[in-house]
Amino acid sequence: MSKTAQDLPSLHASPERQEAHRWLPARPLGPMSEMARLRKTHPMMEAIVDEVDGRQMRVGDHWLTDFASCNYLGFDLEPEIIAAVPEYLARWGTHPSWSRMIATPRLFIEIEQELTDLLGAEDSLALPTITHIHLSVIPALAGQGTIFLDRNAHRSIHDGCLMARAWGATVQRFDDNNPAELEEMLRACRSHPRLVCVDGLNSMTGNIPPVAELARVTRANDALLYIDDAHGFGVIGERRPDELSPYGSRGNSLIRHVGESYDGIILVAGFSKAYSSLLAFLACPTEVKNHLKAATSPHTFSGPSPVASLATVQAGFALNARRGDTIRADLHRKTARILDGMGQLGLTSPNRSGSPIIEIPIGAPERIDAIGDHLFDRGIYTTLAPYPMVPREKVGFRIQVTAANTDEEISHLLEVLAEVAEVADMLSDSTPTRDE
Ligand SMILES: Cc1ncc(COP(=O)(O)O)c(C=O)c1O
Repeated sequence: MSKTAQDLPSLHASPERQEAHRWLPARPLGPMSEMARLRKTHPMMEAIVDEVDGRQMRVGDHWLTDFASCNYLGFDLEPEIIAAVPEYLARWGTHPSWSRMIATPRLFIEIEQELTDLLGAEDSLALPTITHIHLSVIPALAGQGTIFLDRNAHRSIHDGCLMARAWGATVQRFDDNNPAELEEMLRACRSHPRLVCVDGLNSMTGNIPPVAELARVTRANDALLYIDDAHGFGVIGERRPDELSPYGSRGNSLIRHVGESYDGIILVAGFSKAYSSLLAFLACPTEVKNHLKAATSPHTFSGPSPVASLATVQAGFALNARRGDTIRADLHRKTARILDGMGQLGLTSPNRSGSPIIEIPIGAPERIDAIGDHLFDRGIYTTLAPYPMVPREKVGFRIQVTAANTDEEISHLLEVLAEVAEVADMLSDSTPTRDE
């Protein structure tokens, strides 16, 4: 099902638009052109959602099951979290429009305290989004030193490094979680400070990086390890003999999950995925926090997260403490069901961790339109993963499982995946793309 002409805002639709076109850079989109093409043409990109009902979503008159959201714990739909919001609004209004430098509602102090305890870190600083944090904290930490950037790290980390470069840092790239290559580069480096930037639980493969090895290498070479665990926080946590699932307990993120200490590590993550709330944080020593409060624009100048999000973070903490591990065990079971079902169908995924992020490469990038169409038409909404979101050989789609997905929805997903497995085999390599 293609988007209709009405759905596609055309830059050539009117004389005014033609005028606007002249404001845009003439430079071609380069590697982003395939993403741009899909965004314009495919119904499973930038869908306009008219209504949700649990994990069902309505796009126009078509109902689909949402396997593209990052609400891993299903907190967005939890009645007790929703019910907590009005009281906060009555007490605090809708939005504290001070930047945090001007005045900070006590809610932030309480959240940072509870978060710090949950993580077992020395301190934490809450800012609106991870993107804000990368763009401001990476330059502040790197200064005129050197950043060692995991080539495959999330785009928002790359953007933070570009900003740091504008402020005088040097950026060197190393290969996807290759601590040996990193060690060589660090040994050859003569400048300070040194910052190593990597992803935590990977947003595409669903896998966990070799944290212990990265931490050993960075500590031995006087570097700081900066990890973005956007997808791990709330899902994975400390390992315990009485844990209810291999995700571990308490959802207190990657460093606790792998049993590392925070020594020489800055952990960045957020509430906008597992906790369904607009807030992000970094865990760091108090001295670093105090420095960053003065050195970063989002703390000094940005509007903070809205009160409703602060409310859902606090209600989320309470629910996490009471039922989080049970919810995570259910999420693990549902994810395992999908991974097992895929194994029986002969569908492979890079996911080796059992995390609720299941990328399915489709073998031939030109099949992405047809396979996406099939999923959409059969009522399954996933994230399409074209190049450069993933390397060319990994082009495909990504399923994200949440605790709010029902077993019936998962049965239907497996039925549709069986069809896709067949369709994928049937499609010839010459399947035309939409532009042809
Ligand atoms: C690994 C990673 N980092 C950062 C972000 C951006 O987070 P935020 O929306 O808090 O800016 C995302 C969003 O998907 C992500 O996957």
